Amino acid sequence: MNRYPALLSALRTIVGEAYVLTEGDLTGYELDWRKREHGKALAVVRPASTEQVAAVVKACAAAGVSIVPQGGNTGMVVGSTPDASGTQVVLSLTRMNAVRTLDAANLTITVEAGCVLQTLQEVCEQAGFLFPLSLASEGSCTIGGNLGTNAGGTQVVRYGNTRELCLGLEVVTAQGEVWSGLTGLRKDNTGYDLRHLFIGSEGTLGVITAATMKLYPLPQSQLTALAAVPSLQAAVDLLGLAHRHLSAGLTGFEVMGQFALRLVVKHFPQQRVPFYESAPYCVVLENSDTESDSHARSQLERLLEEALEKGCVTDAVVAESMAQARALWHIRESIPLAQAQEGLNIKHDISIAVSRIPDFVAQADAALEQAFPGVRLVNYGHLGDGNLHYNVQAPAGQDGETFLREQENAVNAVVYALVDAYKGSISAEHGIGSLKREKLEKHKSPVALGLMRSIKTALDPHNLFNPGRMLAARDH
Ligand code: FAD
Ligand code: MLT
Ligand code: ZN
Repeated sequence: MNRYPALLSALRTIVGEAYVLTEGDLTGYELDWRKREHGKALAVVRPASTEQVAAVVKACAAAGVSIVPQGGNTGMVVGSTPDASGTQVVLSLTRMNAVRTLDAANLTITVEAGCVLQTLQEVCEQAGFLFPLSLASEGSCTIGGNLGTNAGGTQVVRYGNTRELCLGLEVVTAQGEVWSGLTGLRKDNTGYDLRHLFIGSEGTLGVITAATMKLYPLPQSQLTALAAVPSLQAAVDLLGLAHRHLSAGLTGFEVMGQFALRLVVKHFPQQRVPFYESAPYCVVLENSDTESDSHARSQLERLLEEALEKGCVTDAVVAESMAQARALWHIRESIPLAQAQEGLNIKHDISIAVSRIPDFVAQADAALEQAFPGVRLVNYGHLGDGNLHYNVQAPAGQDGETFLREQENAVNAVVYALVDAYKGSISAEHGIGSLKREKLEKHKSPVALGLMRSIKTALDPHNLFNPGRMLAARDH
């Protein structure tokens, strides 16, 4: 028997019978992408408009039932699925996926929160524009989720995180009011910039229903190269050269450790992965050029020539076609999937000043190998932004679940103590969710935590939105 029959009936009246799901297989809404926690929803509610979202919020608030906003459910930190209580409503935004307007002269597009990122990229490209946010989950993540997490991805080195790409939001507040902030203005200093409170708030402050995002001209040429580098320090040196040679043309700079590439070869044997057997790290780099293919190529070749001369690159290949470029990017994007196939793992989404990353990794590798003999380190990520996915897989032959149960806290303690020592961040782009909530308390200053709690209490006094995520429920 369902609890809250009056609320369920009200929700059915608001969104329609077919869009309040309480029975059948709800795994896609209740289990997080990494399969870390399987929650239980009171109902999954799928509104079709901002007005419906507002009415759902009011009905849930009146019944004292909390709401978990959800987009594509690709988040990495267990923030978009319900807890196990069976008393939370999952508010899935995926039916709200329309592109509302594209203003070519203003270089903006206004889109609903449930629009899948790849759809948005394609709509923009068909109109002759670039929407540069790019993540391996783009086939299913949504722009609302990207804003909710302030997602990063592979183009941040040039275009910034989702926050930098957003000019305005429409949000349903905890009172069920609609804040219409879809201005598309590039300058607006009329008080607090509310949009920045909601971006990266992981569904804890309000429901984003639409957003106005920046567009860029499509580049004339996008060239991708894969370079083998003899060390992480060499990769950092290559990044310095790439900034100097390519300037704003440098749109991607991703590093991949040898074991990460081995996992790709193991789980996706159809992929051809150059250089990985002989190089400890490989780098994917991308040059986007406003002039021409030949200009882009000569720039990239000059960069690689100098890098080879200086010894920071030992071998390199430049894609000759779009298909080859996609294949190189596909190697990088396959790493999280290959890692998931290898088994449960401990993810560390960390950022550190680029200049200090080689020392950090040398120290962390040594400390982990000593404390957990045989441990397998899957190191890759957005080196151009100082963001590493410094992940830890159980020793070969050991069950991932047991390893996580027995060692996750100890592994985290080693890595995060070093992150602190290097003045880095314990979450560069994935957010906090419930997986990192307790870690946030240890690694964020009391002053910062106090300000965060004040904001939560002011905007969501009854803890309606995503309670227990990011901040402990008792905190406000
Ligand atoms: P969900 O997972 O549904 O939700 C994420 C959070 O946002 C939750 O807290 C949720 O409550 C909140 N939320 C969702 N929609 C709304 C809304 N409309 N209003 C308010 N809050 C909302 N992340 C990166 O940053 N960079 C990467 O390179 C990257 N690569 C990935 C690769 C793979 C293969 C996978 C599986 C994930 C990757 N991610 C990456 C993580 C994930 O895709 C991003 O966090 C993404 O932004 C989540 O979008 P989503 O629509 O799936 O959101
Ligand atoms: C990535 O960059 O591939 C993602 O952030 C996903 C991950 O860390 O696994
Ligand atoms: Zn990433």
